[in-house]
Amino acid sequence: MSLPRYVAALDQGTTSTRCMLFDREGRMVSLAQREHHQHYPRAGWVEHDPLEIWDIVCRVVPEAIAEAGAVPSQVVGLGITNQRETTVVWDRHTGRPVHHAIVWQDTRSSAVLPAVAADMPEAEIQARCGLPLVTYFSGPKVRWLLDSSPSLRERAERGDLLFGTMDSWLVWNLTGGVSGGAHVTDVTNASRTMLMNLGTLDWDPELLAAMRVPRAMLPEIRPTVSSFGTTVAPVAGIPLTAVIGDQQASLFGQAGFDRGDAKCTFGTGGFLLLNTGSSPVRSQHGLITTVAHAMEGEPAAYALEGSIAVAGALVQWFRDSLGLIRSAAEIETQALTVPDNGGCYVVPAFTGLYAPHWEPDARGVIVGLTSYVTKAHLCRAVLEATAWQTREVVDAMNADASVPLTRLAVDGGMTADNLLMQTIADFLDIPVVRPMVAETVSRGAAYAAGLGAGYWPDRQVLRRHWRRAAEWRPAMSASAREAEFARWRRAVELAIGWGA
Ligand code: G3P
Repeated sequence: MSLPRYVAALDQGTTSTRCMLFDREGRMVSLAQREHHQHYPRAGWVEHDPLEIWDIVCRVVPEAIAEAGAVPSQVVGLGITNQRETTVVWDRHTGRPVHHAIVWQDTRSSAVLPAVAADMPEAEIQARCGLPLVTYFSGPKVRWLLDSSPSLRERAERGDLLFGTMDSWLVWNLTGGVSGGAHVTDVTNASRTMLMNLGTLDWDPELLAAMRVPRAMLPEIRPTVSSFGTTVAPVAGIPLTAVIGDQQASLFGQAGFDRGDAKCTFGTGGFLLLNTGSSPVRSQHGLITTVAHAMEGEPAAYALEGSIAVAGALVQWFRDSLGLIRSAAEIETQALTVPDNGGCYVVPAFTGLYAPHWEPDARGVIVGLTSYVTKAHLCRAVLEATAWQTREVVDAMNADASVPLTRLAVDGGMTADNLLMQTIADFLDIPVVRPMVAETVSRGAAYAAGLGAGYWPDRQVLRRHWRRAAEWRPAMSASAREAEFARWRRAVELAIGWGA
């Protein structure tokens, strides 16, 4: 009897790295996961150690294969998915990063944004790459790094340094590193760098000039589902058949293959993506234009995205920095002890506000405090912050798209919080649905890798895997909702005004 075959997904996220194996029915058969350190060298700076992350990858990949009781030859394809925008620069000769990875949340590149804008007006940048000129994306991070040291810039121009988002760093190491590793990325990740032209799906020479990024340090851009090489380490011989940014992966994992499909993932941040089909739609309401996926030999699918910088990260902050709760789950149990927020609103603009405001200088505020307010009210306001931010991006999405969203498909760690899901349904006034498999990021990467490896014949087979696990229906009066929304908006104005 022949041994069962699997596809694997490696999900390198903001706080942890996981490897999972999936079977032909799309069921997860094993999981290995480890967290990495977060470095905060200054206010607003967030770094990861790329070597620590590579070391974790070297552990979780063999662990996941062993946990499934398999050997590497049973894995027909590996898909990589990753935190997007996070910027790694390393020496091609030694394989050593020249700096910690500068994480997507990091705001240090605000120092170079005026210089970038002087080189190219923001409207033109946006027309070329679909992104506003803010600290979130990779290009200004690379410029900051190379501007910080003439010797780094010289080495980059000589071709001695390589740039990549996390996917490139991992593929290079998985395929041999200094001994011939492939320096590649996929279109979804490249679309987050602010260096790729959305029309040509290739590096844009003018954008490179504005960001002062030498062409020699950039990876080759490939379709999401295509051949990225074969692993050499930590286990040899597994074909790398897909690379996809994590939010695009969760859209793929929710079977969001076609125009009109949408999902919202609640993790560290919150990310709503709407598949807009084969032409990029330009937002008039503060959303960004990005690539959803590209299959080899087919036109790329694009998406409109509403990115929320801080969702679960606010709960983490309550737990780890303020010590007000002991576990993330306690936010819900506390919030359930009170009927409302007691007049209190929390706007978590820790790294500015992303969509639809794009106010990099906004800072977090807690307003409406009275001696009546308890920890429980604050916990409710924390959950409501995620729900209101979701309402803002859904409003923007509805204003941009011809057909309004009639339900929201959700996934991610925060969807275990029933009160939050009910609050989102109430604030959006549409049903919220969660699929059976909440691990949609890994599942999306596995789907893409499995299609690339011929494990599944086509996307229609995958669509049949989608099963609804839970649904929350709106149950809030329109007048209460709109009165609360007006107060939230006043709090947002205060957060924006604070940074002005
Ligand atoms: O754009 C940032 C996003 O890709 C991060 O996702 O799930 O790693 O926080 P996550």
